[in-house]
Amino acid sequence: MSHCCQVSTDNWEDVKAKCLTALPEDIVNYIDDHKGDEHAESNLIAILHRVQRHFGYLGQEQMNAVAQLAQIPLAKVTGVATFYHLFRLQPRGKHVISVCMGTACYVKGAEKLSQRLMDELGIHYGETTKDGMFSLDNSRCLGTCGLAPVIMVDDQVYGPVTPSEITIILEKYIKQPRAAAPKAALAVQ
Ligand code: FES
Repeated sequence: MSHCCQVSTDNWEDVKAKCLTALPEDIVNYIDDHKGDEHAESNLIAILHRVQRHFGYLGQEQMNAVAQLAQIPLAKVTGVATFYHLFRLQPRGKHVISVCMGTACYVKGAEKLSQRLMDELGIHYGETTKDGMFSLDNSRCLGTCGLAPVIMVDDQVYGPVTPSEITIILEKYIKQPRAAAPKAALAVQ
C-alpha cells in the first residue's frame, strides 16, 4: 500500500482529532481500524459509502479527511469518488427529479423528457442546480409502466409526461414550498 505525505504530524491522535471536525466518530474509527488493510481500494469504496450515507454526498472536506486517515493520496480518493456513478460530489437539491429510463418509458420518449429537463435545469444526471432547488437522476422502471413515460419528483410520480409539461411541473415546485408540493400526478390519463 502506498503511503502519502499528507499527515503533517506524527501524532496519530492529533490527526484523528482534526478529522473528527469533518467526519463522525464512527467513520473515523472505522477508517482507523481498517487502515493498512490489504484491500485498500475495496475498503476505500466501503468508507466512501459510509460517508455518503451520513452526509448525502462526498464533500471535499470529507474526502480530505478520508485521505489523511486512510493514508491514501487524495487524488486516489477523488479518483474513486468520481469514477463510480453512485457517489455524489454535491449535496442533493431540495427536490430530486428522477427520469425513468426503463424500457416502456424509453420507447415512449423518456430521452426527450431527459433532454428537456437538462435544458431547463442546466444540469446533467447526478448534478444539482446552483440554487440547490433540483437534483437530476435517472432510474430503471419505477413500476408504473402503464403511465409511461414517467418522471418522479421526490416521491410523486407524473405520467404520461410530454416534454412541454416538464416546464409546468418544475414551476409548481419552484412556486410552492416542499410541504405544499402537488399531490396529484399531472397528466395521469
Ligand atoms: S419503464 Fe418506466 S415505469 Fe416502468
